Amino acid sequence: MEMHLICIMQKKNIAIFASGNGSNAGQIIKHFRESDVAEVALVVCNRAGAAVIDRSRALGVAVEVIDRAGINNPELMNGVFDRYGIDVVVLAGFLLMVPDFILERYHDNVLNIHPSLLPRFGGKGMYGRNVHQAVVEAGEKESGITVHLVTGRCDEGRILFQASVPLSPSDTADDVEQKVHELEYRHYPEVIEKWCGM
Ligand code: GRF
Repeated sequence: MEMHLICIMQKKNIAIFASGNGSNAGQIIKHFRESDVAEVALVVCNRAGAAVIDRSRALGVAVEVIDRAGINNPELMNGVFDRYGIDVVVLAGFLLMVPDFILERYHDNVLNIHPSLLPRFGGKGMYGRNVHQAVVEAGEKESGITVHLVTGRCDEGRILFQASVPLSPSDTADDVEQKVHELEYRHYPEVIEKWCGM
């Protein structure tokens, strides 16, 4: 008699944490519409009025707007995670530190993207435009992206993926930002998907 073994893998539920524009969040949401591995179940935003809120809702994803005090409240956040069945937390332009109880709950399932080639241009104050401005001022010949696991220390944690892009001496911070965004959109969703499938 022939035996058929059917393995049904449950899709993982991703929560994206974002604070601002959310162009990466939008790319990730769209990417996971086509995925068998995971889907975006929730966007958490700590800033009322941030563009990521409308952008995500327009793409059909639930959004919870939760301020800093709420994000740091274990009872509230664990309730949210349970309600949406969250398996993986993905930071995409999230400007607060992730509290320890979230890191303990999700261990190696909290990912971040940083818009430089860490450890260069990382650490406190190095976010958004500040990073690209510092890269231009240092006369760097390249910049790039780093996807890493999140720990309690800013921009540290195991690096999962890096990609670089050449810069020209005439590039402004705006130009660098645009080049780096292109890399982010191309790679971040796929790196997340690979990690979710492991
Ligand atoms: C991205 O460059 C990301 O690397 C950094 O913050 C920026 C967010 O941009 N962590 P957006 O909100 O996704 O447009």
